[in-house]
Parts: sequence; structure tokens; C-alpha cells
Amino acid sequence: MSKTLVAFFSASGVTKKVAEKLAAATGSDLYEIQPAVPYTRADLNWQDKQSRSSVEMNDPSSRPELADHAANI
Ligand SMILES: Cc1cc2nc3c(=O)[nH]c(=O)nc-3n(C[C@H](O)[C@H](O)[C@H](O)COP(=O)(O)O)c2cc1C
Repeated sequence: MSKTLVAFFSASGVTKKVAEKLAAATGSDLYEIQPAVPYTRADLNWQDKQSRSSVEMNDPSSRPELADHAANI
């Protein structure tokens, strides 16, 4: 186990690729933050003010549940 961790959230895979490169370059552990309820394409439609991501973004108290409650990080 490394002393450094790269934790990331990636809805469509772009950030995931960067996180993997970063972890490899720095010798860090890698951890993917995943939501309990995966985001659908419709959820991620930022042009829809009623989409899940728009609603969550506009709610400062929004804390989407994580899939993993016992992450060893
Ligand atoms: C719901 C949502 C909101 C976004 N808002 C912005 C934004 O405000 N500014 C921006 O430059 N890109 C925005 N993007 C584009 C993402 O930053 C871009 O698609 C990124 O590559 C996604 O990374 P990922 O594949 O790791 O999730 C948004 C994308 C989504 C799905």
C-alpha cells in the first residue's frame, strides 16, 4: 500500500484515464469513487435543468450516496 492515494470520480471515463496515469506516475494507490445509483446519460444532461446532475449541482446540501461504505482508504 502506498502512502499516497489518487481518488477520483469519473462519469464518462475521461478523468479515470488521467487518474490512472497520475497514480502510475506517482506510485500512488488508485480508488474510484462510485455512486450507489449510477448516473445515466439522462442524469448527466447538463442542458436539462431538471436532470439529476443539474438538481444535485444546484443543491449545496446534496450528498449522493456512495456505493462503497467500507472503503479501505
Ligand atoms: C453534468 C455535467 C456538467 C458539466 N459541466 C461542465 C462545466 O461546467 N464546464 C466544463 O468545462 N465542462 C463541463 N462538463 C464536461 C466534463 O467536464 C467533461 O465531459 C469531462 O471530460 C468529463 O469527465 P469524466 O469522463 O471523467 O466524467 C460537464 C459534464 C457533465 C456530465
